[in-house]
Amino acid sequence: MSRTLSTKLVSVVVIVFSFYASFLDAFPWTPKFNKLLVFSDSYGDDGNVYRLSNGTWPPSFYYKGGFSNGPLWTAHLSQRLSAQLENYAYGGYSGADGNLKVPGIKQQVNTFTAKVSNQTDLSHTLAVFWPIGNDYVFTNYTAAPSDVVTRLASAWTLVYAKGVRHFLIPNLFDISLLPIFKGSAPSFLALLKDIYQKNNKELKKAIKTFEASHPDVRVYAFQADQFWVYYRKVQASRLGITNFEDGCASTYESKPLTICSNPDSYFYWDGFHPSAKVHQAIAAGFYASLG
Ligand SMILES: *[C@@H]1O[C@H](CO)[C@@H](O)[C@H](O)[C@H]1NC(C)=O
Ligand SMILES: *[C@@H]1O[C@H](CO)[C@@H](O)[C@H](O)[C@H]1NC(C)=O
Ligand SMILES: *[C@@H]1O[C@H](CO)[C@@H](O)[C@H](O)[C@H]1NC(C)=O
Repeated sequence: MSRTLSTKLVSVVVIVFSFYASFLDAFPWTPKFNKLLVFSDSYGDDGNVYRLSNGTWPPSFYYKGGFSNGPLWTAHLSQRLSAQLENYAYGGYSGADGNLKVPGIKQQVNTFTAKVSNQTDLSHTLAVFWPIGNDYVFTNYTAAPSDVVTRLASAWTLVYAKGVRHFLIPNLFDISLLPIFKGSAPSFLALLKDIYQKNNKELKKAIKTFEASHPDVRVYAFQADQFWVYYRKVQASRLGITNFEDGCASTYESKPLTICSNPDSYFYWDGFHPSAKVHQAIAAGFYASLG
């Protein structure tokens, strides 16, 4: 069953954001997962592309080769679940050839399926699939969302075939809000908004189809788009975040590198990636959606 009912969503959102600091300890249930699989891009990569690049990307002012200034949601979530983290995510993947060939979702899943034997019990495994738009942004801005999502859904099916039954599938937030796009032409920002909205529509359909054809699957559909909005409107000031428009570090910008002195007041660590504080909140949101 997907958790898309708006009442459920509202209650989850209220729980997450009203009691953010303390609710985790008080939450009346414990999800039973012993393994956490992550298929993602830089939003979930805690050091894979760093190793692949021999320690050159991301640069040294990032935290332990992950794309933020502190631990990512992957670390927080696996800790909360007491689940072993198996991270297949690679930052910067795209369909294009580059100096560095970075595994996309399909290659990440192939690595997993090749590694795991059919006999392994994966019934207590949670698989998270969260690509945040590289298929469009680094590859092809006019890629058809139905194609992108169809490729993603075939990756779910491969993981399902190995015995995984629990899938956390966050949607795409409004990527036009990323600092890297600040000041872009209105028509370009409109294109980005269109991409995330169409992508999410296709994603919702694909999840329905996935559930219908696999009745024993459990999908936790986290609304990242609403998280982005709600966080900014309601929660951020309480947590001392005041800047939503700029990255603390100017890594991806053409101007010389600068790093702010107060990263805890930034939503974004750089032009693309959330700060450590926001990663913590994302993990709390993910955790709450597993109820
Ligand atoms: C990283 O180092 C290995 C071993 O020296 C080398 O084969 C590989 O090409 C290097 N990768 C990059 C991206 O520099
Ligand atoms: C493992 O399962 C997959 C998917 O059901 C199947 O295609 C493959 O043949 C199986 N491999 C073995 C060694 O049984
Ligand atoms: C981008 O995607 C569109 C829609 O699928 C396709 O028509 C176009 O050829 C693609 N462009 C590139 C450069 O791959």
